[in-house]
Amino acid sequence: MEDWPGYFQSVLGKGPRETLIAALDSFAQEGVTHGLGVDIAAGEGRDSLELLRQGWRVVATDNHPDAFPLLWSRVPEELKPRLATVEVDFGEMQVPGCELVNASFALPFCCPEDFPGLWSRIVAAIRPGGRFAGQFFGDRDTWASLPGRTHHSRDEVLKLLEGFEFEMMNEEEKDDPPDLRSPKHWQIFHVVAKKR
Ligand SMILES: C[S@@+](CC[C@H](N)C(=O)[O-])C[C@H]1O[C@@H](n2cnc3c(N)ncnc32)[C@H](O)[C@@H]1O
Repeated sequence: MEDWPGYFQSVLGKGPRETLIAALDSFAQEGVTHGLGVDIAAGEGRDSLELLRQGWRVVATDNHPDAFPLLWSRVPEELKPRLATVEVDFGEMQVPGCELVNASFALPFCCPEDFPGLWSRIVAAIRPGGRFAGQFFGDRDTWASLPGRTHHSRDEVLKLLEGFEFEMMNEEEKDDPPDLRSPKHWQIFHVVAKKR
């Protein structure tokens, strides 16, 4: 999973994550059709592209040098002024005040030492009425035992988002088919939450 260039190639061209779409739909229902979205660990940029297409300004972050060339090369010329990319590690990243923090399949890859600081910067950055969208990996997920990963129980996810109203809290738990090269157990929380 940490062959990031291989991962970027395997997902290149795929559509936006369902959590992002749900958050954007909720904004649209409130008449909010644009704002600033911070796309944390944006990777090759599937969600950043969607935010731009839907009229949002985007700050995309990732620490891998291969990520942003793949994003910029796919951004239409007229949308480029609304995109900024920052190559930065979770531990150092600042989060500008924004309407949306989008962290799709991102935060579990933050090391436990850096997670509390990053999470408090995320919460502080989201304006009242703004949203968090993204995934957390559960404590029963196979990767929970890997060093440098941050996984959460359901109760811990609920606690992290105290002060938010949940609009999506879907728990997915499944096993890979045994014939896969490295089958694993997945426990994923798909979350969209609105800051009060
Ligand atoms: C599973 S990918 C998710 C990419 C994209 N958000 C998506 O939904 O497909 C995880 C991303 O985390 C980034 N990443 C891993 N460790 C990181 C770190 N310490 N600081 C910042 N980004 C990191 C990787 O480069 C990769 O783009």
